[in-house]
Amino acid sequence: MQTMDYGPSVEESSAVRDWLAKRERFGHFINGSFTDAGRGFVTTDPASGETLAQITQGTAEDVAAAVKAARKAQPKWAKLSGHERAQYLYAIARTIQKRERFLSVLETLDNGKPIRESRDADIPLVVRHFYHHAGWASIMGDEFPGYAPLGVAGQIIPWNFPLLMLAWKIAPAIAAGNTVVLKPAEYTPLTALAFAEICQEVGLPDGVVNIVTGDGETGVALVAADVDKIAFTGSTEVGRAIRASTAGTAKRLTLELGGKSPFIVMEDADLDAAVEGVVDSIWFNQGQVCCAGSRILVAESVADRFEALLQRRLGTLRVGPPLDKSTDIGAIVHPVQKDRITGLCRQAVEAGGDLIGGAPSEGCFVAPGYLRDISPANPAWSEEIFGPIATLTTFRTADEAISLANNSRYGLAAQIWSESATVATDLAAQVKSGVVWINGANMFDAAAPFGGMRESGFGREGGYVGLLEYLAAPAAPAAKEKSPKPPKAMPDGSGSGKGIDRTEKLYIGGAQKRPDGGASYRAASGDLVPLGNRKDIRNAVEAAAKAGKWAAMGGHGRAQVMYFIAENLSLRREELAGKHGRQAVDTAIARLFFYAGWADKYDGRNVQTKPGYLVNVIPQPFGVVGLACPNDAPLLGFVSLVAPLIAMGNAVVAIPAQDDPVAAFDLAQIFDTSDLPGGVVNIVSGAKDELAAVLAAHDEVSALWFCGAKGADAVEKASTGNLKPVWSFPNRDWSRDDAQGRVFLNRSVQWKTVWLPYGALPAGTGSVVY
Ligand code: NAI
Repeated sequence: MQTMDYGPSVEESSAVRDWLAKRERFGHFINGSFTDAGRGFVTTDPASGETLAQITQGTAEDVAAAVKAARKAQPKWAKLSGHERAQYLYAIARTIQKRERFLSVLETLDNGKPIRESRDADIPLVVRHFYHHAGWASIMGDEFPGYAPLGVAGQIIPWNFPLLMLAWKIAPAIAAGNTVVLKPAEYTPLTALAFAEICQEVGLPDGVVNIVTGDGETGVALVAADVDKIAFTGSTEVGRAIRASTAGTAKRLTLELGGKSPFIVMEDADLDAAVEGVVDSIWFNQGQVCCAGSRILVAESVADRFEALLQRRLGTLRVGPPLDKSTDIGAIVHPVQKDRITGLCRQAVEAGGDLIGGAPSEGCFVAPGYLRDISPANPAWSEEIFGPIATLTTFRTADEAISLANNSRYGLAAQIWSESATVATDLAAQVKSGVVWINGANMFDAAAPFGGMRESGFGREGGYVGLLEYLAAPAAPAAKEKSPKPPKAMPDGSGSGKGIDRTEKLYIGGAQKRPDGGASYRAASGDLVPLGNRKDIRNAVEAAAKAGKWAAMGGHGRAQVMYFIAENLSLRREELAGKHGRQAVDTAIARLFFYAGWADKYDGRNVQTKPGYLVNVIPQPFGVVGLACPNDAPLLGFVSLVAPLIAMGNAVVAIPAQDDPVAAFDLAQIFDTSDLPGGVVNIVSGAKDELAAVLAAHDEVSALWFCGAKGADAVEKASTGNLKPVWSFPNRDWSRDDAQGRVFLNRSVQWKTVWLPYGALPAGTGSVVY
């Protein structure tokens, strides 16, 4: 012992190397066995450049064979009892637990992440996912009565958490009775192949899990294959392409995409803890984490002290061989990614940023660092660097912090550091992201839903709401819908015919508005009704975006308004029954009561992760939702769709039944007399497909419902811009009891998972929870 310096402490890797030497060339895992290895590529250890194995490039035929096997296995798998499926998941969890060391070393070799991370973070969380979902398989019948598996799920995962992403996707899918075809990332396929061996070992029925290796081309083939669902984690760009290519196919889709998450350090934060948070959030895993808090926003009054502490900590981080147990920062996954990181840093500096640390070195290594003086105009502000480099910006007030935090096209995660519960919870409520960590970072658990808002994607993975993504809800049978007649424009002032003046006006922002073009068309009822256009939709969206106080009224307040609407509708019952049918009016009144009842009862959940953490999963309105109504049941269809959306606090821009929008305008009169704030419901009549496409492409519209037999294809394609979730579903018999319920409420909200540790986190553990 001459010095106190670290000596090497390298994890033993001979078992993994023997395993690799024995296999050398890998085929795919299809229908319970490995195929012969075919043409492909090598996977390497990014830390040394050494070749680890030969991997087969999956062709469209390979994908088709895997999907066929999964399709064949699915009914039998779904027919097993929950307990039987649970036993398989349990056996997988146990076996992974026994192989923790082997899998950690294999992951570290293939990915370059420090062994400390794969051993202490990733693999234990993989185990947790399989145990947790074994539990879900057992209680599925109780918790999801009437729900059914979707069928075959195609799953595409990235390279940053290879086995963890696999677990995150496969565990809920198979617990729910689906079978899967998974494509690991081309840089990191090895733990997925080792997992395939575990499936064989535990005797998982053939075809339940299939693994096809390959690059983006294989991914494209899987997206196009005969699957019922695509679950994708990766870049926003590829997510967009997948959204476009699945449009109109009725494939269910979850997208977990990129982020540029804010890391807000308030004046009263525990600065030492916040600095540790930076280590866990941004430098952890070489910054190759979609939810990394890569935009540090720090209160100006403490910025100097915070930076001094940050720089001191930066100096103590050890960049080095990933298998060394004292390495903090390992290798970047691939030279392509290293070039991307260094290229973005160069651009940021050219645009006026100041890079502290962050030096690249020989091989695939980049030292941790951060860019100071980054304004929103600097490319580093908005571009995902996906490396161990944060940006740092100061703010003066909490309002400025929130406006900077939300100044992003993404909305994946946010970290908030403040010792005041009032301040932290206030910011947590305002930040637009799917996950919020208060006084901590990168806390994950199988019970805690994870996923994004805005261009970070949609859908959640983990816990109860994650399972919903792998289940088909019980639904009323589809009902036939009248094909709409193209609305024929009648010029302004063409005479009112049977129509009355008010039907020639749209309903926008709580007031009647003449349509932009001044034209009308004749409805099936004979009335002249307004012919809305693109500009009218834009005006309606603008009005809806100003209706934020509706959400702030709370469930009880909203319920009161909805009861009042029902009451006023019942006052006009006789008159409207004459026009729209007695049954429709009576059911509409009941439906308004139903969703008013739900308004303050559709609760979030407090989920159990680990003791010592308060984790709340909170339903949040989307904001502005576009709604294209069926060309049928003009009164009841409209009420059945608008009511759940507004009960949950959304503002709606609705396109009523194309041939017969009069009922919706009749309701607008009732809204006016029922204290519904202006802008909460807006009605633009006209050509449904054309108007729906405008809603789909509009960035301020955060979600879209499209009811109808035809046209979903076009709106889903048009929605790729801001990646809004689109729910397309067929018309149904709206008079039935099963045309209402949770199924509609589940689609009216997005989930925010807020983590709050009780008290301080134990010293020395950092804030990462596994
Ligand atoms: P990527 O999105 O291209 O790759 C992710 C997965 O999708 C891989 O399995 C890949 O083979 C597959 N894929 C690629 N193109 C596809 C296509 N057209 N259709 C279907 N599947 C396809 O991400 P990449 O190129 O590895 O990384 C680029 C950037 O993406 C990173 O620098 C980072 O900014 C972001 N990224 C985000 C991740 C996240 O966790 N949200 C994970 C990985 C990357």
